[in-house]
Amino acid sequence: MTGRSSFLIVANRLPVDRTIEPDGTASWRRSPGGLVTAIAPVMQRRHGAWAGWHGAPDEKLEPFQQDGMNLIPIPLSAREVELYYEGFSNATLWPLYHDVVATPVFDRQMWEAYQSVNQRFAEAAAEAAEEGAVVWVQDYQLQLVPAMLRRLRPDLRIGFFLHIPFPPTELFWRLPWRKDIVEGLLGADLVGFQLPGGASNFRRLCRRLLGLPYKGNEIFLDDRIVTTQAFPISVDFAHLDALVREPHIVARAKEIRIELGEPEHVLLGVDRLDYTKGIGQRLEGFGELLKDGRLRPGEAVFVQIATPSRERVDEYRKLRDDIELQVGRINGEHAQLGYQPIWYFHQSYNQEELAALYLAADVMVVTPLRDGMNLVAKEYISCHHDLQGALVLSEFTGAADELRQSYLVNPYDVEDIKRQLLNAMRATPHELARRMRTMRRRVATYDVDRWANEFLTALESPASATSTRRSA
Ligand code: ADP
Ligand code: G6P
Repeated sequence: MTGRSSFLIVANRLPVDRTIEPDGTASWRRSPGGLVTAIAPVMQRRHGAWAGWHGAPDEKLEPFQQDGMNLIPIPLSAREVELYYEGFSNATLWPLYHDVVATPVFDRQMWEAYQSVNQRFAEAAAEAAEEGAVVWVQDYQLQLVPAMLRRLRPDLRIGFFLHIPFPPTELFWRLPWRKDIVEGLLGADLVGFQLPGGASNFRRLCRRLLGLPYKGNEIFLDDRIVTTQAFPISVDFAHLDALVREPHIVARAKEIRIELGEPEHVLLGVDRLDYTKGIGQRLEGFGELLKDGRLRPGEAVFVQIATPSRERVDEYRKLRDDIELQVGRINGEHAQLGYQPIWYFHQSYNQEELAALYLAADVMVVTPLRDGMNLVAKEYISCHHDLQGALVLSEFTGAADELRQSYLVNPYDVEDIKRQLLNAMRATPHELARRMRTMRRRVATYDVDRWANEFLTALESPASATSTRRSA
């Protein structure tokens, strides 16, 4: 790839991840997580470039093309991976922004690495963007990039979207570098959040921390206006809807149910193995239903797919041990010959296998303690044109704002989880169809293309972008 782009995505990760196999050969895999799921289809339909880390430390790569996308790899040293990615991004910001469900680490070396890596991303973007280009910076790993990039290239139109929740002022206030982060974000023309609550947290913080006035969605700086707005992210509904109608996916879904022993109810969880996802809470609820005898042996199986994630960060290591112990205990206590209550997979799957799993599942169980949006919930809805299937959904996800016809739960309340799991399993087909129809209408209308179009339209004319999208 040569030349500069008029449209540039800047994200910590590229959509593909370079992995080194045990025999030493390098290969490419799809990167984990919701950001890549959302941005990849958007990018494939637009001309532009995507700058990001390629997932391997200490390796410099030239720009290349893959799946119709122009990719610009940005190198990170092993030490930067440790301090900037595992450290400041995932041991400081991630828990702080997710309601401190784990304790954030505040470490000056990590902060220094975060600054210097953000500077590198800003320089790469400045180099790759043509005069007047639109640059869309993504997520919490790169919050300093908007201001750094503006200093280098004041001609650019700069957008920023935060995929995770923006915390209440009281929590954000703990951050020793709170002012720098807010000033970094204010380098953008448009700062997007998942929910209106995140946008208003940010505006209030700007007033309290920097004394900046705001009115409606607009924050007034000395020389310009920054627009803040909610844009709830979504999935490629049409693609998933078409995929699950394909005969080989339908056949695979049937096969999965047979492989699971044809239980009455298949319950499914699909997550990165992350402590924000409430995996332990849902398994506890399921285990207690078996123990209380409210589920008969053999009546229901729980399939939990947990993608390996951030495995060198302490909290994630501990979580893996905890979940695996819990699965072992529940299976140990309730399995019978020919019946295993929980099927646990610490593996990644391709989209076709995931679609077949969604189709095969009667109840999708999504119980995060906090989640910016949760695309898994919307993917499940997209896969059920049969209008069957129930979604049990945590009130603490962004998706809960839109998917009001799900079986909403407070994941901190194990009795509530148990009650809603049973309600979902015992619902009539008519009741399921009523709920599913409304949720499908919502996801079909607000799909990922609409999300990107609304953001980019607002970015190109931020002063006129004052309307906030309503939830269903
Ligand atoms: P997060 O971004 O925090 O990981 P989301 O639910 O928003 O959470 O997005 C997760 C994305 O990762 C979804 O698109 C989902 O399909 C995908 N995913 C989750 N688990 C797996 C897995 N085991 N294999 C492949 N893809 C997965
Ligand atoms: C979430 C974050 C993304 C991140 C993804 C996967 O979706 O919002 O920014 O890319 O998780 O996490 P990882 O650390 O593997 O990139």
